Amino acid sequence: MWPDSRLQNLLGIDVPILLAPMAGAASSELAIAVADAGGLGSLPCAMLSADQVRSEVGKIRQRTSRPINLNFFCHEPPEVELKREAAWSERLARYYLELGLDPDLPVPNSTRMPFDGTMCDLVVELKPEVVSFHFGLPDKDLLARVKAMGAKILSSATTVAEARWLEQHGCDAIIAQGYEAGGHRGMFLTQDISTQVGTMSLVPQVVDAVKVPVIAAGGIADARGVVAALALGAAAVQLGTAYLFCPEATIGPVHRRALRSATDDQTALTNVFSGRPARGIVNRIIREIGPISDLAPPFPLASGALAPLRLKSEAAGSEDFAQMWSGQSAHLGRELPAGELTKRLAAETLAKLDAHASAT
Ligand SMILES: Cc1cc2nc3c(=O)[nH]c(=O)nc-3n(C[C@H](O)[C@H](O)[C@H](O)COP(=O)(O)O)c2cc1C
Repeated sequence: MWPDSRLQNLLGIDVPILLAPMAGAASSELAIAVADAGGLGSLPCAMLSADQVRSEVGKIRQRTSRPINLNFFCHEPPEVELKREAAWSERLARYYLELGLDPDLPVPNSTRMPFDGTMCDLVVELKPEVVSFHFGLPDKDLLARVKAMGAKILSSATTVAEARWLEQHGCDAIIAQGYEAGGHRGMFLTQDISTQVGTMSLVPQVVDAVKVPVIAAGGIADARGVVAALALGAAAVQLGTAYLFCPEATIGPVHRRALRSATDDQTALTNVFSGRPARGIVNRIIREIGPISDLAPPFPLASGALAPLRLKSEAAGSEDFAQMWSGQSAHLGRELPAGELTKRLAAETLAKLDAHASAT
């Protein structure tokens, strides 16, 4: 028996395990596998066009009748500052030359889009049971339409203040995203990474501060982490990095290889890939121009000039310029199909909880 069934009841799932939406690293396959195993399957939509979202949701609905989560970013699109763009391109020019690329080629656009009216129309049409956001919440009229359609709303908080804000603005549950987490920090009321909070400290303080259920995220990769999160008062957990090891994840071989050998001290928060702090495995570009660079244009613009370097070097099997998001617990990852991983995590957690109950 799970000690807390609030999240299962709220979202219509069997086990309190959420697949983290991971833009660029996962598609419908991962979501279907986790959903069928009783967890919440999430489809990251921030880097998909409306047609791609429609097609991926179609695949999910064909293969499972379980609830699904569609995830979107809700950042303010920044003004393009030509001077800053030029300084960034100039900083990267030596790498372009090294890889035989022309530094004067036009900078590709970033593919990370915020939730807007078009996506909102699509969400209302597709009727996912859950919609989650990263970087706060969208405009209140858009949010009201998603809520009126009946979806439960989730978003990530990296501080107690953000958790309170999300509750006041209508979230049905809050993801407490600790410092250990892989990928972008969901931070939206602060930009100060030096004061970001670890999962162990954040979860119980968010639990005390809000009435809605809390989902713990960041560094949780096995049953020990799940038990700890539940003991801290979380009603569920959201795992990202642990699912990157599954064959269904859509990461390339360079990222997969780096995850396999990553140790606890090999990730850092960096803004060089996108302009916003995100945790990834340290490589040459992070070491040489980061981990935090004042030159990086604001999110998501920094990713434009990086894209040709990433593509060319990754195609040659090099991790020098690869964006390899990972949390601090990659070393605990297990290479299992996602359904199997979800079932094992649930069974191992329940066994630990039972063992603890019979010992006390
Ligand atoms: C590869 C990767 C991509 C991510 N992309 C997203 C995303 O698109 N939307 C989102 O809400 N969170 C995203 N995250 C953050 C996760 O939701 C979650 O907070 C994080 O994975 C939890 O930490 P863990 O990786 O240690 O499990 C991403 C994380 C990773 C590792």
